Amino acid sequence: MHGARFSKFGFIMASAGSAVGLGNIWKFPYMTGENGGGAFVLIYLLTITFVGLSLFLAEVVIGRLSRGDAVSAFESLAPRNGNLWKYSGFMIFTGILILSFYTIVIGWIFKYIYVSAFSLPSSVKEAGSSFGGMLSADTTTQTLFFTLAFFVTFFIVSKGVKQGIEKINLILMPLLVIILLILLAYSFTLSGFGKAVAFLFVPDFSKVHSSSILAAVGHAFFTLSLGMGTIMTYAASIPKDANIAKSSLMVAVLDTVIALVAGLVIFSFLFHFNAEPSQGPGLIFISLPPLFYQLGILGNAIGVLFFMALAFAGITSAVSIVEPTVMYMIDRFKISRTKSLVILSAVVYLLGMLALLSNIDELKKYVTFFGKGFFDIFDFLSSSVLLPLGGILIAIFVGFVIEKNRLYSLLSPFMSDSIFNLWYFSIKYITPIGVFAVMINKIFF
Ligand code: TRP
Repeated sequence: MHGARFSKFGFIMASAGSAVGLGNIWKFPYMTGENGGGAFVLIYLLTITFVGLSLFLAEVVIGRLSRGDAVSAFESLAPRNGNLWKYSGFMIFTGILILSFYTIVIGWIFKYIYVSAFSLPSSVKEAGSSFGGMLSADTTTQTLFFTLAFFVTFFIVSKGVKQGIEKINLILMPLLVIILLILLAYSFTLSGFGKAVAFLFVPDFSKVHSSSILAAVGHAFFTLSLGMGTIMTYAASIPKDANIAKSSLMVAVLDTVIALVAGLVIFSFLFHFNAEPSQGPGLIFISLPPLFYQLGILGNAIGVLFFMALAFAGITSAVSIVEPTVMYMIDRFKISRTKSLVILSAVVYLLGMLALLSNIDELKKYVTFFGKGFFDIFDFLSSSVLLPLGGILIAIFVGFVIEKNRLYSLLSPFMSDSIFNLWYFSIKYITPIGVFAVMINKIFF
């Protein structure tokens, strides 16, 4: 139905490329900082294992069984009411919203590769005002870098699953790992390294609130790219004989290890210079650059490497956010990849510019909706409403709609009966209830 398939290794790398993104290197460290360190990390590891991995495997199962786009997957796998279930497949459109702000953030990162090379700020105050200034006043710079990130992403997707997505992941993912290892080796020499290890791995439960638990579940979800058909769509192009249980486990492990390494690197720097871990989303754009500055030319090099790693992680994820809709358009409307990308890119670019402009102080009053900027609305609507909703639908579909013996015959070659039963229980009860709790909490509290 669609073009070339992934190789077995290509599928693992592409899914890992999707999972490893801004969520790992930007969001995970600042969330850990805000939620007190070790205990939060422990809860995160548990939710990845019991909720994240189950749902990941569920998406892989849907894709692997249907071998089609997300909409026809729900339609064809439902024994009854396929004509209703197919609307669940529309969860792929969440990607359009995510992409419009995700690409803006990749644009900021491109800009920070440049900043690291030539104009690192010398103090946190200066760093804060230059980052804040860019967001709230510098339309030109942001538009320029957003457009660049946008073209890179769509260009890669235009080359298709094998020649575009698999290829770029086979190049960028190893590069990302190498850069992170270099940075890790360097952090090892900093006096803050020991403190960073203790901060991340020694749990202090007095610092944990119920909100931390929900934040961990929500993040487990975002970091594994779940809830909008990305993994489902990639799994539709998996080779028939791939061990899907092992592949899923490898992606989850890789994603987790990379988040932990990014955390170690960032906290080593922060503790080395006695900076505070709990600084929120500005952590890497505001707190890190002045620390790099203190290291002179070495700091420039480290900064460039750090933001390059972040850019690579972001691009491979952005690609995976577009692909589900592209595949749907190709399969359903029998149009070419190029044509579907032209249509889709027009929508994403328009929404992206709307989000970008809604952060600019001067323009805010013209482009807000109920007093909120589009950037925040897209972020809230996708992360807090649509992705969890997608996750719940996937869990219910696999847990209650697809026949159990179909799941069993697909999965039993790759796992023992007790693991299968554990997974089945989790996907039926633990996952939907857990995700529902997160969603209610995020929307109403
Ligand atoms: N997982 C990516 C990250 O951590 C983001 C991402 C990519 C994503 N594709 C997705 C999130 C699909 C949700 C759904 O940055």
